[in-house]
Amino acid sequence: MTMAKPMSDSDAKARIDWLCREIYRHDRLYYVEAKPVIGDRDYDLLYNELLDLEKRYPQFLNPDSPTRRVSGAPIGAFEQVRHDPPMQSLDKTHSKDELLDFDEFVRKTVEGFTYLVEPKIDGVSMSLRYENRRLVRAATRGNGIVGDDVTQNVRTIKAVPLTLPESAPETLEVRGEVYMTRDGFAALNERLEDAGGEPFANPRNACAGSLKQLDPKVVARRPLDIVLYNAGGVGCDSFPRHSEMIAAFRSWGFPVAPWSKLCKTIEDVFAAIDELERMRHSFRFEIDGAVVKIDERRFYDVLGATAHGPRWARAYKYAPERAETTLESITVQVGRTGILTPVAELKPVELAGSVIARATLHNADQIARQDIRIGDRVWLVKAGDVIPAIESPIAEKRTGAEKVFEMPSACPVCGGEVVRLEGEVATRCINPACPAQLCRRLEHFASRNALDLKALGGKIADVLVEKGVVKDPLDLFELDYAALSMLDVGENGASRKFGKNAMNLRDAVDAAKKLPLERWLFAIGIPQVGVTVAKDIAAEHAKFSDLPDSAVLKNVIENDAKKGRERKILPIKVEAAKAVLAFFCGDYGQAFLKRMLDLGIDPVRTESAPKATEGPLVGAGCVLTGSLSRPRTEYAKMIEAAGGIVQSAVTSRTRYLIAGANVGATKTEKARALGTEVIDEAKLLELLGASSTPAPAAPSAPVQATFF
Ligand code: IVH
Repeated sequence: MTMAKPMSDSDAKARIDWLCREIYRHDRLYYVEAKPVIGDRDYDLLYNELLDLEKRYPQFLNPDSPTRRVSGAPIGAFEQVRHDPPMQSLDKTHSKDELLDFDEFVRKTVEGFTYLVEPKIDGVSMSLRYENRRLVRAATRGNGIVGDDVTQNVRTIKAVPLTLPESAPETLEVRGEVYMTRDGFAALNERLEDAGGEPFANPRNACAGSLKQLDPKVVARRPLDIVLYNAGGVGCDSFPRHSEMIAAFRSWGFPVAPWSKLCKTIEDVFAAIDELERMRHSFRFEIDGAVVKIDERRFYDVLGATAHGPRWARAYKYAPERAETTLESITVQVGRTGILTPVAELKPVELAGSVIARATLHNADQIARQDIRIGDRVWLVKAGDVIPAIESPIAEKRTGAEKVFEMPSACPVCGGEVVRLEGEVATRCINPACPAQLCRRLEHFASRNALDLKALGGKIADVLVEKGVVKDPLDLFELDYAALSMLDVGENGASRKFGKNAMNLRDAVDAAKKLPLERWLFAIGIPQVGVTVAKDIAAEHAKFSDLPDSAVLKNVIENDAKKGRERKILPIKVEAAKAVLAFFCGDYGQAFLKRMLDLGIDPVRTESAPKATEGPLVGAGCVLTGSLSRPRTEYAKMIEAAGGIVQSAVTSRTRYLIAGANVGATKTEKARALGTEVIDEAKLLELLGASSTPAPAAPSAPVQATFF
C-alpha cells in the first residue's frame, strides 16, 4: 500500500477541484463527443485519487463531485412531478404517403421552413431541470402531465451533467430520452440470468425497469445513457432554430443525437429517413423510427398541436424487423377470465436486439386464418417493436410433417370443461376454482391500477396459489404474514424465502382497505370493467355495497332497450353495467361482497370536483394564450367552475381565445377563421361575472400561458 502524501489544505482543495473538472472533462469526451482520450484504467486512477482525497479532506467535498452520483438512501416511492408544459407525445406515421399529408399541411400553414430529421430513440422520455446550473430534478413523462421524480436514479447516469457551464442559462429545463445501450443490455441480461433472475425482454424494458428501482445503487450498475432532443419549459426560448438549440445543448455538455439532417423538401426527408434506416443498428441505442421536425421554432405556435402531440413534428415508424424460425410446439395458457390462449414455442431466434422463444397466437381462429401449423418455418415480427408475433408461415418450406393445431377440449390446467360462447373467438375454462385463473386473478388484484400490492407479482401469485396459501384474493386480508415470510418462493429448484417482502405485502394489503371504490371495482376483474369504466361507474356510486342493487346500472340497461329519441347518452356502457350486475348476482359475487363487509371493507368513491353543468361558460371551449396577468391555472379553474372546457389548442369547437399580451396576429387570425371569438382578460372576467376591473398587474414578469 502506498502512503498518502501529506498536502496543504489549499493544495488538497485545488487538487480535488482539478480532479472533479478533469473527470467531468473525460465523461464529456466519452459521452458527448464519443472521442475518449484516456482508457478505463487511467480514468479509474483519477477517480480513485479523488475518492481518496475526498475521504481525507471531507471539508472540500463538492456536492456535485463525480463520486457523488450515487447519493441518498433507497426511497419508499417516487414523488410526483407536474410537467409545465405537459410532456407531449408525437403523432405517428407509418408510410411516406402519410408524411406527404403532413408536408401538405405544413406548406399550407407556413412558408419558408426547413425540415430536420432525427433518430427516434426507443427509451424512456425524461425531463431534466437545472437551477443555478445544478441538476435539481429529473422526472419521467408519466402520463404527460404528471411523472415520477427519479432524480436520485438519473444522477447515477454518467452522461447526465450534474452541473452546467457558465454559458448555459441559470435555470434550464431540457427533455430527452434515457436509454440502455445495446451492449450494456446484453451484459445485464447475462448477469441477471446468472443470478437466477428474469432477463428483460428488450433494452427499453430494461431501461424503464432500471429507472423504477427505488435504490440508486442498483441503478448505478445499470448501463444507462441519455440523449437530449427537446426544450423544456425554461431556458430554451432564445433559439430561433431547433438545430441551433441542439447545438447549444451539446455545448453545455448534454449528449445529443449523433446523426440528424436538415432537409429542404419532403423528398430530401424521405432520403434522410432511408439513410437513417440503413444506419439503425450502428447506434448505441435502439431506434424505432425517425422524427421529422420543423427547424424554425417561430412556426410552432402557428402549427399548434393535436391531442397526441405538436403539429411541428411527426414520428415515422420503420416497418418492424423480421426473423425466420421454427414453430416447435403450441402450448395453451389459461388467463384471468378463463380464456385459453395458445402460445407459440419457437426455436429461439434473435430479433431486433433480443432473443425470442415465445409468441402469443391469440386464439384458434387466428391460427386457422393464418394457417399456422406446428413444425412450420415462420416469419417472426415485433409488433410495435416490442411484442413478438408470427407474421405468417412460410408455406413453401413445408415438408408435410407439419400438424394442424387443435384447441384442447378440456382445460390444460384443471382438466375442467371448456366452452366457446356464441359470437366469441375465445375458448374459456368455466371452472371458477381453476388454479390458473386464480393465479391470474390474484396477479390482477395486486396490479398497479388495482390494489397496487408491489410485493405480489405474477410469480409470487403462482406460488401462493400453488401452495394453497391463497384460494381467493380476499384471503390476503386474513393471512398469517409472519408464517408467510418463511414461505419458499424460489424457482427452478432454488430455494428463497419470501422474507421481508411478506411484511411489505401485509402493509400494502392494510393500506388497500382504504383505496377508493374505482380501484376495488377494477381489482375484482369483472369482464368489460377496465380502469376507465371502473372510474365512470365509481363516479355514480357512493360505496361498494351500493353496486349489486344499483339503480344507475339498471337504468343504463333499460335505457339501452329504448329506441330513438327516448334513448339518452349515459356515461356508462351497457355491457359493463350488465357485467357488474351479473357479477353481484352470482354466488361468487355475493360471497365476495359479504366477505368484504365482514372484513369491514366497503370502499367509497373519491370525491372529485363535480363538473359544473351550469354557469356562464357551459360547454364553451376556451384557449388561453399570451402573457396573462394571473397564472393560467387560476384562469383554468375559474373557466371550469363556470362550466367551460379549457383546451390546449384552438379547434372548431373553441368558443373563446383568451389573448393576453404579445399575441401575434397570425394566431388570432387563425382563431377567427375557425369561428373562435378572440377576447381579452377583461372580457373573460366579465363573462365569468367576476370583477370587470382588470386584475392588478403582475408584480414582475408576466405569466406566460404555455398552451397554444
Ligand atoms: S421530440 C412533443 N425527438 O418519442 C414531444 N421525441 O413517440 C416532442 N422520442 O414522447 C418529442 N426520439 O419520448 C422527440 N428525436 C426525438 C425523439 C423523441 C424519441 C420519443 C419521445 C416522445 C415519443 C413519441
